[in-house]
Amino acid sequence: MNGVLNRLKLCTLDLSAKAVRYIEKPTAASLRYLRTSSRKLRLAQMFLRYEGERDDIFIVAYPKSGTTWMQMILYQLTTDGRMTLNHIDDFSPHLEESFVDSGRWINDVPKPRIIKSHLEYKKAPKGPGRYIYVMRNGLDVAVSFYHQLLHRDPGSFAEFFEQFINGRVPYGSWFAHVKEWTDNPDRLNVLLVSYEDLVSDLEASVRKICTFCDIEVPAEEWPRIIHNCSFGFMKQHESKFNLAMRVGAQRRSAPELIRQGGVGGWRSYMDTEMLNEYYTVTDHTFHSEALERYRRL
Ligand code: A3P
Repeated sequence: MNGVLNRLKLCTLDLSAKAVRYIEKPTAASLRYLRTSSRKLRLAQMFLRYEGERDDIFIVAYPKSGTTWMQMILYQLTTDGRMTLNHIDDFSPHLEESFVDSGRWINDVPKPRIIKSHLEYKKAPKGPGRYIYVMRNGLDVAVSFYHQLLHRDPGSFAEFFEQFINGRVPYGSWFAHVKEWTDNPDRLNVLLVSYEDLVSDLEASVRKICTFCDIEVPAEEWPRIIHNCSFGFMKQHESKFNLAMRVGAQRRSAPELIRQGGVGGWRSYMDTEMLNEYYTVTDHTFHSEALERYRRL
């Protein structure tokens, strides 16, 4: 917590110093900066304050691991599943972004709160609620991430992969993220769900999620839930999931989110050298049974 506090203090000082300079000399660019920096400050305050509550369900995942899919599963399980919502983040807001973007604060979200987050373990709220941690093999994550960042000109896939292996991408190292969440040193109430299991037997995984969250589903609802959580159905409703369509989104367009799906797409992107780089890190980092499936692919 001290580390976070120190970083926040530094970030606050830096932002305030810039803010004073910009107020003295306003320009269109500086006004834009002020709007963003006040968002960042409010965001930082919110991280520090929110501890989590007993009936919270956090959906946590490293980006591109099936976060949106899990949001949809919870949406289908806890509502009539009609796609009348504007965006999936309205149902399950993104802790690090949507509260600020949409002007909603976490405490205003109706309970039970279903909250999406990509935060690394150390930074996540440590409450008494439930945490569903979705994980996906790092190679498919890297490919999916590359496509998500194409509008930011990430260079060739090989260049991006080098950054990914070294954790120099948004949200840092995938290896550290999955390791810390699966180690779970604070003994949070975590259910680990793998993307690969969702792909191979969606219903079996969804039943585990129901048991963990104490959700009872009438038998006649299952066909609708499974159908609406399929890749095809979600792709048809891309606009409900696309990052550019969220309230307050910074961009007018974003790459497709429901892109290709599936397991093993990485094979068309990786050469032996890249694979060996991945194995070097997994051999060094992954020692628990929970991550055994991702050590060698
Ligand atoms: P690809 O880019 O490999 O297609 P996140 O929500 O964490 O950003 O993850 C996005 C990834 O999950 C994308 O992977 C997307 O296609 C995949 N995904 C989303 N819904 C899915 C579904 N119903 N079935 C399979 N994959 C899904």
